[in-house]
Amino acid sequence: MLLHLSTWAEVERFLERSRTIVVPIGSNEQHGPTGLLGTDWLCPEIIAHEAQKSADILVAPTFNIGMAQHHLGFPGTISLRPSTFIAAIGDWTRSLAVHGFEKILFLNGHGGNVASIEAAFSELYAEASFARRRAGFALRLRNWWDIKGVGALARQQFPTGHGSHATPSEIAVTQWAYPDAIKSANYAPQIAGSGPIREALDFRARHPDGRMGSDPGLATPEKGGALVALAAKGLIEEVEAFGRELPAG
Ligand code: NI
Repeated sequence: MLLHLSTWAEVERFLERSRTIVVPIGSNEQHGPTGLLGTDWLCPEIIAHEAQKSADILVAPTFNIGMAQHHLGFPGTISLRPSTFIAAIGDWTRSLAVHGFEKILFLNGHGGNVASIEAAFSELYAEASFARRRAGFALRLRNWWDIKGVGALARQQFPTGHGSHATPSEIAVTQWAYPDAIKSANYAPQIAGSGPIREALDFRARHPDGRMGSDPGLATPEKGGALVALAAKGLIEEVEAFGRELPAG
């Protein structure tokens, strides 16, 4: 069930049978010469939307702008600074909690979001702690590539050239979902170099075409479809287990 295609009355009825919701969260940022700018929000959205087709799971609108300051040297990247991102995650969570959602799972598609999402969770829990009350909700962060079995499948599909940005696995997922938007380029070098992440101008100087350690030319829609199927299955299991945990305060 997709929240943005539901009515308030349908959501009210959903809350009678479940207090769990999935929020796809990502980033709109450059992904090398062939990766879509939306890659990091499309991947968790594609997986969550696929999962809700075969299970009674509610999926929130995708939180599609994240912490991507280091990619701002490339056109099309849109970033929130960490403090803005943390504040926005707080208000999304408070909004959902007002209506009774007690288990909120953020399905993340961008490694650069992790520190800020975890800081946002700590801010939200701290509000309850300082007020000497229960939070009333439990929060979970799951990177889609960390869903059970997904990392192993990606390593099997791409034993070399996976890298850490504009990876063939994430690009394969978008190719499966949006075959009309598949791009091609001559990569030079075939596998990009790696290095530290600092500010945007430093990043562009180190990683001139935007990739980090990856060969996106290895991506195929078929490999992406296998990753989506496995991730959607694992997400359903994880949402159900999260829902069964003791209710939050
Ligand atoms: Ni990415």
